[in-house]
Amino acid sequence: MMRVLMIGGVWLVVCFAAFGLFTLPASSSQQEEEEHSQEQEQKHSQKQGPEISTASGTGLTTVNKTTEEILDELLEGIETEPKQKDDGAVEPESKVPPPLRRYMGRRIARTMHFEGAEWLTRETRERQERCSLMLSNLGLKPGMTICDMGCGNGYYALQLAQLIGDKGYVVGVDVQPEMLGFLRDRMEEQGVENVIPILGSFHNPRLPVGMIDMVLLVDVYHEFSHPEQMLAAMRKSLKPGGVIVLLEYREEDPDVPIKPLHKMSKAQVDREMVANGFKLVKSFDKLPWQHMLFYEIDAEFDKESVEESVEESVEGKSSE
Ligand SMILES: C[S@@+](CC[C@H](N)C(=O)[O-])C[C@H]1O[C@@H](n2cnc3c(N)ncnc32)[C@H](O)[C@@H]1O
Repeated sequence: MMRVLMIGGVWLVVCFAAFGLFTLPASSSQQEEEEHSQEQEQKHSQKQGPEISTASGTGLTTVNKTTEEILDELLEGIETEPKQKDDGAVEPESKVPPPLRRYMGRRIARTMHFEGAEWLTRETRERQERCSLMLSNLGLKPGMTICDMGCGNGYYALQLAQLIGDKGYVVGVDVQPEMLGFLRDRMEEQGVENVIPILGSFHNPRLPVGMIDMVLLVDVYHEFSHPEQMLAAMRKSLKPGGVIVLLEYREEDPDVPIKPLHKMSKAQVDREMVANGFKLVKSFDKLPWQHMLFYEIDAEFDKESVEESVEESVEGKSSE
């Protein structure tokens, strides 16, 4: 627990340093997307990877016993913690897999920069994306443990925390410490204590194993530079019967005013999820801009045969 407290202290300093940096629009031009070097992501990941794994928001000094216990339980399951040498120095994660630029026939988008975070909490978002309709169709229940993967500044994490009540927990994962800083500020402003921010790395969300009821990814999956490692980690984090819910802007719909690189077709999402051991169990098709797709673990997943059929379909796609 002491280590978590110390980590929390370091975090607060980082967060204050990052305060007040909202200015740019969310997405850059397509040319920039091309030019964007995944090296930056790798550097980012190497820099952040070993630093901090987990801390509990701003409420560390005020958490009550129950919260503390639940937090301990969640943290106990954290898979990859930075390893400490005898002298206390943190060792870098030994093997960082190379980031991908393309995956299964699609180009991977660059990560949305934290300087564009204001776009996530823009006033028009509810009208444009019908966020409350999405939330009311998630199937939330009080007491759930939910991961808001790629939580950004916590637009959804804070609402989820309220909807699942004080017996539930939201684990908010992001790779940008600045985003988590904004999330912490908003938690403090709103007095929310049941969100646990986790600084993930690009290939490892550092989730507890077998403890999550639902992983929600809103406009995040298409940015993963390490989709296979991320999906494998999320798979392991789920409780039996747990679900992954993906929201992606609809590529099939030219009226959705989002750059093509930040959109995905339903077929492409499904191809990638199936190849990684998930099956589609439900979709909600009434959102104005996004697909909303529910996946569960496919118990009959046969990696080899799936890989073969996926190769065929990707070849078919690239020759279209
Ligand atoms: C477009 S924002 C969406 C934020 C939030 N889900 C929302 O809808 O308000 C995408 C977020 O995903 C994060 N992200 C990208 N790759 C990630 C990864 N591998 N693990 C965790 N977060 C990631 C980015 O840092 C960014 O904050």
